[in-house]
Amino acid sequence: MLMKIEIFTPNRISIIIGTFAALLLVLLEVFLAWLGLYKWSYSIVFVSASVGFIFVYIISYLLLNKLLINKIFPLYKIISEPKNEQSFKKSLNILKKANVDVANWVVQKNQEIDRLKKNEKFRREFLSNVSHELKTPLFSIQGYITTLLEGGLEDESINRKFLEKADKNINRMISIIQDLETISKIENNEIELHYENFEITSLIKEIFEMLETKAAKRGIKLFLINPSKPYFVHADRQRIADVLYNLVLNSINYGKDNGHTTIYIHDLNEKILVEVSDNGIGIEEKYLERIFERFFRIDKSRSRDSGGTGLGLSIVKHILESHQQNIYVKSTYGVGSSFSFTLNKA
Ligand SMILES: Nc1ncnc2c1ncn2[C@@H]1O[C@H](COP(=O)(O)OP(=O)(O)O)[C@@H](O)[C@H]1O
Ligand SMILES: [Mg+2]
Repeated sequence: MLMKIEIFTPNRISIIIGTFAALLLVLLEVFLAWLGLYKWSYSIVFVSASVGFIFVYIISYLLLNKLLINKIFPLYKIISEPKNEQSFKKSLNILKKANVDVANWVVQKNQEIDRLKKNEKFRREFLSNVSHELKTPLFSIQGYITTLLEGGLEDESINRKFLEKADKNINRMISIIQDLETISKIENNEIELHYENFEITSLIKEIFEMLETKAAKRGIKLFLINPSKPYFVHADRQRIADVLYNLVLNSINYGKDNGHTTIYIHDLNEKILVEVSDNGIGIEEKYLERIFERFFRIDKSRSRDSGGTGLGLSIVKHILESHQQNIYVKSTYGVGSSFSFTLNKA
């Protein structure tokens, strides 16, 4: 919404002052005529009033313009940062322009305030998510330890099992904290990307090896299409390894038993597109745009059981964005999902 601000222009003010001056002159002449010091004549009155008007108009117009330029320019500069004072002076309609600029500035500031308010809301949500996520494992650990202290320690049937469960929850807390650290480092630009040229298919094979056992447990097969041709890319190898690890891990965690995960490499002109695709549970359309949010998980218990923190995809997105690359997701609920991202060729 554009705010309407009424402003008196130098022109308008000068007309008013000039008219006043002309009226004063006429009054003076009437007064002098009345005193008998002056011989009244319409033409002289008319000419002197006109000359008075024009003279006063020009003087006040020039003075006002100068004053306005001196007064308004600093303010105007803050808002619109014009290139130089000279070009600014050239603009005949300073106030009209200022009027529009001030209105635009108001709109811009309002948008900025809206954005800050949104960030504030996001920050509050984030804090409550973090504390909630940490509280869950912490309370479980507390429960196990209390049980152990209250006699469970001597009970051979549960003592080991409870310690193992407590250990699992501690690991969960550690992975949440590690993920949070990664995110905050990326967001604060504290992570320097170490660009290098490397071959992507060998990195994919390394990631497959790391996740082989996990996949095998669910009977999920891992495929790489077009593995014979080497593809060199220019990126931070370790960070891209994190991206691939997260995407393949998700494809296993949210895959179907005896399903498959396939990575395709597509050759685009200056880039390559890496596509991680699965025939798993899929993602409903309405969640698609939210899955990259921090802590967003569609099925919290499924994610938690598989050790997920809900931070994986947001880390993935951050890493790719800091490489100035994009990630795309396609998914059909019940059929499968595919995540693809681009990388610059070496
Ligand atoms: N390949 C996939 N298939 C189905 N759903 C997925 C897939 N990848 C991610 N998701 C959904 O997106 C959510 C967010 O993923 P992510 O950020 O990796 O968190 P996490 O795996 O820790 O839950 C997951 O909880 C899951 O619901
Ligand atoms: Mg994940």
